[in-house]
Amino acid sequence: TRVFLPLDTFAVACGADEIAEELTREAGARGLDVEIVRTGSRGMAWLEPLLEVETGEGRIGYGPVEPGEIAALLDAGVLDGAAHERGIGRVEEHPFLQGQTRLTFARCGVIDPLSLDSYRAHGGLAGLERAAQMEPLAVVAEITDSGLRGRGGAGFPTGIKWKTVAEASADRKYIVANADEGDSGTFADRMIMEGDPFALIEGMAIAGLATGATKGFVYLRSEYPVAIRVLTEAVERARAGGVLGPSVLGSPHAFDIEVRVGAGAYVCGEETSLLESLEGRRGQVRAKPPLPAIKGLFGRPTVINNVVTLASVPAVMADVGRYKSLGFGRSRGTMPLQIAGNVRYGGLYEAPFGITLGQIVDRIGGGTASGRPVKAVQVGGPLGAYFPRELFDTPFDYESFAGRDGLIGHAGIVVFDDTADMARQARFAFEFCAVESCGKCTPCRVGAVRGREAMDKLIAGERPAANLELVEDLCNTMKFGSLCALGGFTPYPVMSAITHFPEDFGRPPMSEAAE
Ligand code: NAI
Ligand code: SF4
Repeated sequence: TRVFLPLDTFAVACGADEIAEELTREAGARGLDVEIVRTGSRGMAWLEPLLEVETGEGRIGYGPVEPGEIAALLDAGVLDGAAHERGIGRVEEHPFLQGQTRLTFARCGVIDPLSLDSYRAHGGLAGLERAAQMEPLAVVAEITDSGLRGRGGAGFPTGIKWKTVAEASADRKYIVANADEGDSGTFADRMIMEGDPFALIEGMAIAGLATGATKGFVYLRSEYPVAIRVLTEAVERARAGGVLGPSVLGSPHAFDIEVRVGAGAYVCGEETSLLESLEGRRGQVRAKPPLPAIKGLFGRPTVINNVVTLASVPAVMADVGRYKSLGFGRSRGTMPLQIAGNVRYGGLYEAPFGITLGQIVDRIGGGTASGRPVKAVQVGGPLGAYFPRELFDTPFDYESFAGRDGLIGHAGIVVFDDTADMARQARFAFEFCAVESCGKCTPCRVGAVRGREAMDKLIAGERPAANLELVEDLCNTMKFGSLCALGGFTPYPVMSAITHFPEDFGRPPMSEAAE
């Protein structure tokens, strides 16, 4: 019997490795022939570790399985797909998966992430094979035409970034995958690197072919040991399989990848400090211009894209028409939403842009885990705005969120119930910025510390009105005077908390203020 058990960090954190050992031991003792395939996660975090059994009726799931339960599960006949209180039936038919449009994450949780044959059998390499037959600029034009935008948060059109690099002349060019996934509540980069690393590798190879870059780096955060292991192994297998190397899939193009592990600083997710770190220096922000696309890694033209952007490229290249037919307004294709925090059904949900925030939180996420009313949702990481229920009609796309003084960022959605104190959340935003600031510019380096102090006084009831005014003033300076998004976006959580939850800051509630 073939069973599937994730090697994903979600599952491993909840005992998947122990469960795998237990299953091997128990099956051996009972003389059962069990093959365990370690997969990525399906993204249903609350069901991890999710054990899937291959049966004549498809893959039957059981979760969450806890260490120590395997003997009882075997006794109950789960290897034949028997009913059990942990059973969720046919995994593919689970409502959480049924509602999704999985393009980038189509294989995640399904295949053995380290099997190139499996990757190919599930549609992998079709995009790269196509790209290898095309003129590089035609590939760039297709990416532009697809409408794909940077999934790291800024939403810059990927094709235009690639075009800048493709048209720059230099002795060497680079592709850098930004895998320094630092936002709170985000795990899409990690999930794809653990569950379908060849998608990232293929996307980087296509970017290389399209722009004339022959070397790629993945800048991967040290906090992701499983992703480091899986991706490193996948790169070696891609090389052995002829996907990477002097002749990519037998074409005249050369492309290879190196995995580099960061030392753990939020600001190294900012592209220029990432480059500094990759070059062996302290991760400090560089002034732009010059753009990395013109003068990036080691002074050469460099494409820096987020992991999800690059991992989406194979699906885009395989069927551009389908990709751009999905979405909302100028946000084309799908987005892997990451639902986290105080929520019932947390996990990764890939859907076309345009779904409303309310649908995400209430329908997909099932409301809070605590059962209390939702008070606020922070979208886009620690620098994203807090949205109250009154704004739950906001469609999930770059422009709609920007139009409401927010950002979708890397699509991390963190839910808070009515026990959250938004003044403390605002204080946390300043504190986070103070801790993570690279120190290069004054508005951020000093502003974050002063902001935290002012919030401490406000919370302690010391001249609240004057301190609140000071906070607003600091936000204004940080927003317009900071060199990078860390200082520049810290005002988003602070100002949105003040605007939507004035009562937590000692001001009259919105309804009274309006009267
Ligand atoms: P940005 O708007 O300065 O740049 C976006 C990208 O477009 C950059 O790669 C830039 O080099 C490129 N670009 C701009 N003009 C170009 C041109 N003419 N040709 C070629 N390339 C061009 O934004 P930035 O500062 O890079 O990113 C800010 C975003 O990062 C925020 O929206 C935030 O949501 C996100 N973020 C993501 C985190 C994560 O963990 N994924 C963490 C923190 C922030
Ligand atoms: Fe560094 Fe903060 Fe200035 Fe960004 S805003 S360059 S993190 S000091």
